Amino acid sequence: MRTINVTASRNYPVMIGAGLLQEAGERIRAAAGGAKACVVTDDHVEPLYAERVESGLAAAGYEPLRFVIAHGEASKSPENYIALLRFLAENRLTRTDVLVALGGGVVGDLTGFAAASYLRGIPFVQLPTTVLAAVDSSVGGKTAIDLPEGKNLVGAFYQPHLVLCDIDTLATLPKETFEDGFAEVIKYGMLGDPELLRLLLLPVEDRMEEILAICVERKRDVVAEDEFDRGKRQLLNLGHTVGHAIEALSGYRQSHGRAVAAGMCIVTEAAVRHGLCPKESLDILRRLCEKFELPQTSEYTVEQMYEVMTADKKRAGNRIHLIVPNGFGSCEIRSMEITELKDFLA
Ligand code: NAD
Ligand code: GLY
Repeated sequence: MRTINVTASRNYPVMIGAGLLQEAGERIRAAAGGAKACVVTDDHVEPLYAERVESGLAAAGYEPLRFVIAHGEASKSPENYIALLRFLAENRLTRTDVLVALGGGVVGDLTGFAAASYLRGIPFVQLPTTVLAAVDSSVGGKTAIDLPEGKNLVGAFYQPHLVLCDIDTLATLPKETFEDGFAEVIKYGMLGDPELLRLLLLPVEDRMEEILAICVERKRDVVAEDEFDRGKRQLLNLGHTVGHAIEALSGYRQSHGRAVAAGMCIVTEAAVRHGLCPKESLDILRRLCEKFELPQTSEYTVEQMYEVMTADKKRAGNRIHLIVPNGFGSCEIRSMEITELKDFLA
């Protein structure tokens, strides 16, 4: 097992290893205390892991409760958010009880936002069960729900008390979902870790603990410097400005990871074309996308994506912060006029 300590407005450990769900009850008790523990999960993850977590919680002296949502992005909704808050209120959870997010990024984001706002904040723990959630969404305290007008439009920065990633849970992921998370893994390599890019060319199945830990260490460093996303943390949006546009244009049928992979390729290709970044960055990115069966292009035109990007929440007035590769395993934040963006990508 590896432990990475995150330093933010709340400090907490991220534990990564095999068999950790077995120990979840005791570890949650040590990190968060409380009498009731509400496990929030989705209908794919529930039959696989909910009982294991709840029996551990009961053995650790908790009264476990369960709230299940349908799987998929559509569940990160205001309706589910209100339904979860009402479930917590009906079951009289107090500020000393705990929410347990068991699942991928959808469950984690929704649970985190409920935890941030119910009674103005109650403890919560992340038990990520996808690669994406393990390396990105469970760490760093960004929580959110979607509105019909756009993704992640309502949320809060709210750090968990503990993140416990049992790598055994990744074995039940559908192949596509497993690969999807590698877009965010590759992202950390592109941002500042050429060694990680080379490591990812090797077989990954037996190296998951190491790979996830490297990514969480990268994220820990960024969050320690810029928890509230005012500067360096924006680097984590590599591929996301274009990726979010692709997700939106697809009506959210395109997964987050696949959209981010295509976004990284489109931006890196533009950076190479503009002479900002060596071609070997694009070459290794493409090799990795091929390996993990991630898309390198999009069916949408730059004009279509531009329309959506102009509504992106990361826009500041008429300027946008685009993350642009500027070396092999290195990127920079480029502030550009929104009108320049189309030319940059075209
Ligand atoms: P997800 O939560 O929808 O999970 C993907 C699918 O895998 C779902 O069908 C789920 O039921 C299933 N699943 C999860 N774990 C499983 C397991 N162990 N075995 C079998 N099936 C399993 O998607 P995701 O990719 O984990 O997360 C995407 C979400 O994360 C998006 O909403 C995105 O906006 C958000 N996100 C948030 C942050 C952040 O910093 N908060 C960062 C990146 C992404
Ligand atoms: N996933 C981007 C961030 O945490 O800032």
